[in-house]
Amino acid sequence: MEVIIVGSAAEAGRIGADAIQALYDRKPEAVLGIATGSSPLAVYDELGRRVRDGKVSLKEAQAFMLDEYVGLRADHPERYRNVIQRVFVDQVDINPANVHGPDGLAEDLAAACEDYERAIADAGGVDLQLLGIGTDGHIAFNEPGSSLASRTRIKTLTAQTREDNARFFDDDVELVPRHCLTQGIATIMSARHLVLLASGRSKAEAVHQMAEGPISAMWPATALQLHPHVTVLVDHGAASRL
Ligand code: GLP
Repeated sequence: MEVIIVGSAAEAGRIGADAIQALYDRKPEAVLGIATGSSPLAVYDELGRRVRDGKVSLKEAQAFMLDEYVGLRADHPERYRNVIQRVFVDQVDINPANVHGPDGLAEDLAAACEDYERAIADAGGVDLQLLGIGTDGHIAFNEPGSSLASRTRIKTLTAQTREDNARFFDDDVELVPRHCLTQGIATIMSARHLVLLASGRSKAEAVHQMAEGPISAMWPATALQLHPHVTVLVDHGAASRL
């Protein structure tokens, strides 16, 4: 695990975009794993600039999202597919049809999870996965206690995560969905390169556990210690307990 302490979100954005640009220079049809949350936004912004400047192209790319809320209506602004459309797809030249997410509106959610795992495998697996981290150490929506061997499945959100995410739902925790579909920890670990971003003191304990704590399902991100190629981009606040 390579931990890089950055001075600003813009610097993290540049380093993340460098890794993605190098990947697409080498492999134009590469598969990108994309994450919601505020942490990867600087990467998407920088990537968007580089696409507009003609420095990199995602025309042939495929992208897979980490997770999705269950039951948010198709046009809900906080549905992760819509969030990703705004923060990522609209900024770059990827074909929107090549951007995939678990279907949180499927009638058969278990089947939707299996289909999603198959789609990732059929695409050849994820080359580079962007990740954020929850204050409780979750990655995607793999909450504490999640099996480190898990694949895409339905999960119940913890009270902590629903509170953390209430800011996107008019600060009303009751409006935050209770369930989600999420790639499992083993799904995430199958990606060839993981790039995790975190900023601010509220993430310091989670970052400390991830990098230095014992591997445990109670801090799901600790699984990353077993991955051969992880880049962690943290600011001084998030690195303050390392
Ligand atoms: C949500 C997402 C995670 C994300 C986390 C942290 O729970 N499902 O994928 O990592 O939020 O978000 P932020 O980057 O905004 O702190």
